[in-house]
Amino acid sequence: HEVKQVRERLVGWYDDNKRQLPWRTIAITEPDRNIRAYAVWVSEIMLQQTQVNTVKSYFEKWMCKWPTVSDLAKATLEEVNQMWAGLGYYSRARRLHEGAIKIVQELDGEFPDDRDSLMKQLPGVGRYSGSAVASIALGHCVGVVDGNVNRVLARVKGVGADISNQSTSEHFWTLANQLVDPDRPGDFNQAMMELGATVCTPKTPNCESCPLRPHCVAFHRNSAQKRSSIATH
Ligand code: ADE
Repeated sequence: HEVKQVRERLVGWYDDNKRQLPWRTIAITEPDRNIRAYAVWVSEIMLQQTQVNTVKSYFEKWMCKWPTVSDLAKATLEEVNQMWAGLGYYSRARRLHEGAIKIVQELDGEFPDDRDSLMKQLPGVGRYSGSAVASIALGHCVGVVDGNVNRVLARVKGVGADISNQSTSEHFWTLANQLVDPDRPGDFNQAMMELGATVCTPKTPNCESCPLRPHCVAFHRNSAQKRSSIATH
């Protein structure tokens, strides 16, 4: 049925087209759950307000200096801020540091193990980053909505994309949760982000190379519009 096809096409496209990013490699190859969660947490906080290409080198340097959450907990805030220099929004760095200290001092060094505890226990982790860490690092079946995913879903479903409206935003989270692939939730979510960033772009989307074109309401509407304007002119 259709949901299954959308999942297969999207994840298949991701396998062929994904960018090799350092946190993705860790999320896939690292056997230690704590290290996977730590790496994905750091990357998602960096990615909140900074472009992928800028984040890459900062992430690599960060993981070199503090490979585990307990290494980060031992750092001083000055060191952390120094490492962050150039990324902006320094409160993000402070919250990573605070979160690491909390994990070591209050949670026995164990990373929170699901989306809700991630959101509750870690400062600066909301629904977006909690869901990203839970799906990408822990393999939990939860959907993720960021600006890119929101746009992809709006076009595929042919609905308005105004997320400043609370109930519209809820609707997209519901859609994402229904659509996420239970077999590969982390890859599915990153595929949605990747599709929005590279193919289903805001201004001139590259529908020719989109794996979801056969399922996309906006694409079909658009091509029907073009056909009728050719017929009438
Ligand atoms: N933006 C936010 N999270 C991302 C991820 N995991 N991969 C690529 N872009 C992202």
